[in-house]
Amino acid sequence: MFIEVSNLKKSYASGAMTHEVLKGIGMKLAKGEIGVILGPSGSGKSTLMNIIGGVDRGDSGEVRVGGVEINRLNDDQLTEYRREDIGFVFQFYNLVPNLTVGENIEVVANISKAPLDVDEVLAAVEMRDKKRRFPRELSGGEQQRVSIARAIVKNPQILLCDEPTGALDYQTSRSILQLLERVNREYGTTILMITHNEAIAAMANRVFKLRSGEITEEAVNQVIIPAERIEW
Ligand SMILES: Nc1ncnc2c1ncn2[C@@H]1O[C@H](COP(=O)(O)OP(=O)(O)OP(=O)(O)O)[C@@H](O)[C@H]1O
Ligand SMILES: [Mg+2]
Repeated sequence: MFIEVSNLKKSYASGAMTHEVLKGIGMKLAKGEIGVILGPSGSGKSTLMNIIGGVDRGDSGEVRVGGVEINRLNDDQLTEYRREDIGFVFQFYNLVPNLTVGENIEVVANISKAPLDVDEVLAAVEMRDKKRRFPRELSGGEQQRVSIARAIVKNPQILLCDEPTGALDYQTSRSILQLLERVNREYGTTILMITHNEAIAAMANRVFKLRSGEITEEAVNQVIIPAERIEW
């Protein structure tokens, strides 16, 4: 498997207490698959995703990505991994406000080893005509399209999406899900997505349910429903 997490534990200190946020997580995702993580607020979803993405480290256990144990990488290697292999998409877009759409994507392309063409990526998210606009001049859905373009321009192995439709209305959410599906299909990007919306799980190859830092359910979907046909 491309992503293999086993017995991953993570605690945070709060005062004299320690709070175990991940209590021995195990999960796997094959290359080119879409995985969905479901679970209540505070169950550890973002913590798990951040460790897989190399922005945080586990305390113990293993996180293998393409055979590399990323918990054992030194800080420079981890930065390199994050920069080359991982694209992040967040609920609140995190675009740089004083850069145009094109510039937001170019700054990432410029620090990547083998970036995709900026205009190609903008076309893929249907935002080429808004290249010179600033983020404040865009709707939420358009800003999310730009943030997806920014995440995929480096041609990452893995796209990590933390509630990518959390701030969007119904129709816009559905178009963003269709876009993620197209990225998965056209670029072969492995996608791991956190959502609170159980209906979205139908478009995934694998579904992981998290509760209080533990995987309580793991399902492999035999039938995958295209995002276009998912309704809630
Ligand atoms: N940097 C941190 N320091 C201390 N505690 C943290 C830190 N990050 C997360 N936590 C705690 O870990 C637990 C899990 O947080 P996490 O963000 O992973 O939850 P989540 O499942 O993503 O929730 P949500 O759906 O609300 O985003 C929470 O109780 C949170 O307070
Ligand atoms: Mg979260």
